Amino acid sequence: MKLEGKFAVVTGGGSGIGLAITRALRTAGAYVLIVGRNPQRLAAAQGRDTGITTFVADLAKESDRDRLARYLAGGRPLEVLVNNAGTMTDIDLHDQRAMLMMEGELAVDLSAPIHLTMALLPTLLSRPEAAVVNVSTGLIYAPFGRTPGYATAKAGVHAFSQTLRHQTRREALHVLEVLPPTVDTELTGDYGGSKIKPDAVGSAVVTALINGTTELRVGQAKFLYAMARMAPNTLFTLMNKVADNDAAKARS
Ligand SMILES: NC(=O)c1ccc[n+]([C@@H]2O[C@H](COP(=O)([O-])OP(=O)(O)OC[C@H]3O[C@@H](n4cnc5c(N)ncnc54)[C@H](OP(=O)(O)O)[C@@H]3O)[C@@H](O)[C@H]2O)c1
Repeated sequence: MKLEGKFAVVTGGGSGIGLAITRALRTAGAYVLIVGRNPQRLAAAQGRDTGITTFVADLAKESDRDRLARYLAGGRPLEVLVNNAGTMTDIDLHDQRAMLMMEGELAVDLSAPIHLTMALLPTLLSRPEAAVVNVSTGLIYAPFGRTPGYATAKAGVHAFSQTLRHQTRREALHVLEVLPPTVDTELTGDYGGSKIKPDAVGSAVVTALINGTTELRVGQAKFLYAMARMAPNTLFTLMNKVADNDAAKARS
């Protein structure tokens, strides 16, 4: 699709991968509304760029998602929705608070992208060309056992992207799922190992939108995809050994 002059919303656009996608979209000539809970963070991301606007919302809350959809209905028609906002938390399923924590994680990482997509789909489908970009993770191929809420949510985002793409296949909607590897952001602060820079994901997303790619596996996510096809159990064991070692190191 052509991005010049398009209007995009990027959830979690105030930092990390969302900010990198926002910058890459701006470079490609799109206008971007960035959404997040922290107004200072959004203002810092906006800087002096008049092509970026901001909207404060807690996407874990249904009422805030509705408020965002109403706000968008009153303005310029949306053409690109980037469902990027997310959190990743270690949850011990033996813990009495685990259910509450799981619900919180699922609300941001799974319900919010689905809810926003459903609310904005009529507008997106009314445009000559439009896109939904869902940021999942390369970890859908080898989930970390220590983050069951995140793993469950992202598997859901993957399935939702596939089904949305299937149901809209005869319409002018491009559904792009982005599967990043480990990226150097706040979300991975406690994680060891090699990390790529958010900008690498941002520019790859814009290229994928221009080229019509449906599943964008960035860097190591390509390796996880291939390994998951050849030796899924070995991959799962290996990945979790590394993740559990990292967690032990972070605790000590
Ligand atoms: N970093 C990685 O290695 C990696 C790998 C694969 C996939 N991902 C995915 O990439 C996406 C972005 O993550 P990131 O690494 O860039 O993390 P990040 O730097 O922590 O950014 C997360 C963004 O989401 C926003 N956010 C979090 N909870 C929110 C809520 N309840 N309502 C509204 N906004 C919320 C945050 O803004 P506020 O705090 O202002 O709300 C923040 O801007 C996530 O979906 C993540 O799962 C990351």
